[in-house]
This record gives sequence, structure tokens and C-alpha cells, in this order.
Amino acid sequence: MSCFSTQAALVLVFTGGWCMCAADVGDFTPCLQFFYKSWPPKGLTGTPICQRFNNQYRFATLYSRPRRSPWFSAYLYSVPEGRRPTACWKFEPQLAYPGADGNMIPFPPGPVDQNVVESQGVELDYTNSTYSRGHLDPSLHHQSHEDRSATFTLTNVVPQKAGSNDGPWEDLEQTINKTLSAYCLGEAYVVTGIIPYQSDEHWLKNHRVAVPEYMWSAYCCPNYNNSLPEELKDAFPTYAAIGRNDRNSTEEIVPVSQTAKKQFRGYDVRQMPLDTLEMYLRDRFGTVVSVFYEQCSGSD
Ligand SMILES: *[C@@H]1O[C@H](CO)[C@@H](O)[C@H](O)[C@H]1NC(C)=O
Ligand SMILES: *[C@@H]1O[C@H](CO)[C@@H](O)[C@H](O)[C@H]1NC(C)=O
Ligand SMILES: *[C@@H]1O[C@H](CO)[C@@H](O)[C@H](O)[C@H]1NC(C)=O
Ligand SMILES: *[C@@H]1O[C@H](CO)[C@@H](O)[C@H](O)[C@H]1NC(C)=O
Repeated sequence: MSCFSTQAALVLVFTGGWCMCAADVGDFTPCLQFFYKSWPPKGLTGTPICQRFNNQYRFATLYSRPRRSPWFSAYLYSVPEGRRPTACWKFEPQLAYPGADGNMIPFPPGPVDQNVVESQGVELDYTNSTYSRGHLDPSLHHQSHEDRSATFTLTNVVPQKAGSNDGPWEDLEQTINKTLSAYCLGEAYVVTGIIPYQSDEHWLKNHRVAVPEYMWSAYCCPNYNNSLPEELKDAFPTYAAIGRNDRNSTEEIVPVSQTAKKQFRGYDVRQMPLDTLEMYLRDRFGTVVSVFYEQCSGSD
């Protein structure tokens, strides 16, 4: 099903060459509001994208052009309302055309412009693959319909096994929703990213889009309700998790539970303090990775 409109078609044609508007690629400056203390995570390198939809910034993504998929997306959590929007997948014209309008655009029903295909993942990469489209910034963590729709851009998506996406990872997204909606009193900053394979990079069928071995997520809520129930004592101001995306992975980072339902077995999520996550990121990336300014110590 396509969600392409003639309006979007006109935007695409019109902005093909000469628009001198801000590109929203290569610099987080216009969207620093999505990072705690306006401080994007340190230690990872890629192409910054300020994700713009209908002329408003919605979240931020650090994109990897060679992997044609994101390192992480960063966003502000808000309590969701209404139903999940129907999937209307979009792309970023400015990754293909530096002068293009910064708004994301729905994929056209027919063939996709070759420069767009070269510059990013497209719907055909995922069609008939053994991976689903896994949101980093999930639609579930946003209030407005437009904010939720904006998460359906392929630059916010990685190849994720259905056993993770529909199982333990979805449970994590719901747990975070419950925890933050109940006890976070101010802004909740979330960063969700991936951990690549150590060696033997995995790719979607035609070797264009890289598959992550793990997904991770961390939030920072400096202003929270102090009367926390016992089981949430460690969950504020910051907490993190790593989820398996490959049944064959070893169990050093995330152990496997043998009691999980068969279809979800091997896709466990392990919740952990932020510094434990940062230790695993440092090990795998070979450099210090800092997700939040001063580890979200809340010293404002
Ligand atoms: C996907 O698989 C179906 C069934 O095997 C096939 O008919 C279709 O052409 C395939 N689509 C693509 C894009 O490969
Ligand atoms: C998210 O949290 C809100 C507020 O607590 C709740 O009403 C809603 O049902 C939750 N959504 C899901 C999918 O868990
Ligand atoms: C904090 O949590 C307690 C216990 O759940 C609740 O009674 C109280 O109203 C909350 N305070 C605020 C400011 O939300
Ligand atoms: C896991 O191992 C099996 C058996 O060696 C292999 O067929 C499968 O492709 C592997 N899965 C992944 C995601 O690499």
C-alpha cells in the first residue's frame, strides 16, 4: 500500500535541484533539543540527521552511509495517544541531494530515484528478507500523530528479527512507556542505537543494509518522582538495556532464557545501569562512548 500524495510528488520535483534551504544533514545544531543538555552522545561517528517532517523537527539520528542504517536515534519521550499510524515509509531527500528540502518524503509507488537508492536503504531492501523493520525511535513513545508518523523513515530503522521486534524488544518499549509515564516528572531523553558484529558483518540479502548484532537503549529523566516502588529504585534518573538480534550470539552480554516462548527464544533483553551499557559499547567500538552528559547525573 502506498501513502504517496501528489503534494509529496510536487515537493520532490520542485526541490530536485535548486532549493537553498537548510539541508538538515551533517549537523545536529538545529535539533539539539532532543539531547540532554544539548549534548549528543560522544564516541560514535556518522552523518547527523535532524529528522524533519511537515516542517518540524521530530527527533535526531546519527546515520551511517556505508551501513545504510542508523547508529542511533535520539528523541524526547511523550505519553502516547491514539492508535499506531499505518506504516507510511519515508526517505530523506537530502541524503541524495545536498540542496534538497530537509523534510522526509513518502516513497513513491513506482521506481525510486537512483540517487536515493544509492544513498540510503529503500523498501525493496527489506521486502522478502528474513528481517523486519525495527524502529530505533518507536512510534509508541510519542503523543502526536505527526510525531508518530515521522518515526516511519527508513533512516530510523535497522534490520531486526521478528522474534526480537515482536517479543522482548517490544516488551522493553512498553516497560519504558509505563515507567516514564508513571514516574518521570519532566523531560525524558531517550537514545536507542545498535551494536554491530565484532567481525563478519551481516547484511540484508543484496549486501546494501548492515544488520546489527544487538540493539541498545538508554533514557535520562533528571526530574522524577522520588517515591519509587522498590523494583524501580535503580531505574532513575537513568537506565539502559541491550537486546539480542541474533539467536546465535554468545551469552556474555545478554544471557538466553530457556523458558521464553519458542518464537522469542534467543532474543532476550537485559536491563542494566547506564555505565554497564557504556562498558559494552566501549568494548565493541574500541573507544569511550558517552550516551548522556555526565551520565545524566541530574546535577542541574
Ligand atoms: C517476494 O516473494 C514473493 C513470493 O516468493 C515473490 O512473488 C515476489 O516477487 C518477491 N518480491 C521481491 C521484491 O523480491
Ligand atoms: C503507555 O503508557 C500510557 C500511560 O501510562 C498507557 O495509557 C498506555 O496504555 C501505554 N501504552 C502501551 C502500548 O503500553
Ligand atoms: C509520586 O508517586 C506517589 C506514589 O506513586 C504518588 O502518590 C504521588 O502523587 C506522586 N507525585 C507526583 C508529583 O506525581
Ligand atoms: C545461526 O546459525 C545457523 C546455523 O549455523 C545459520 O543457519 C543461521 O543463518 C545463523 N543466523 C544468523 C542470524 O546468522
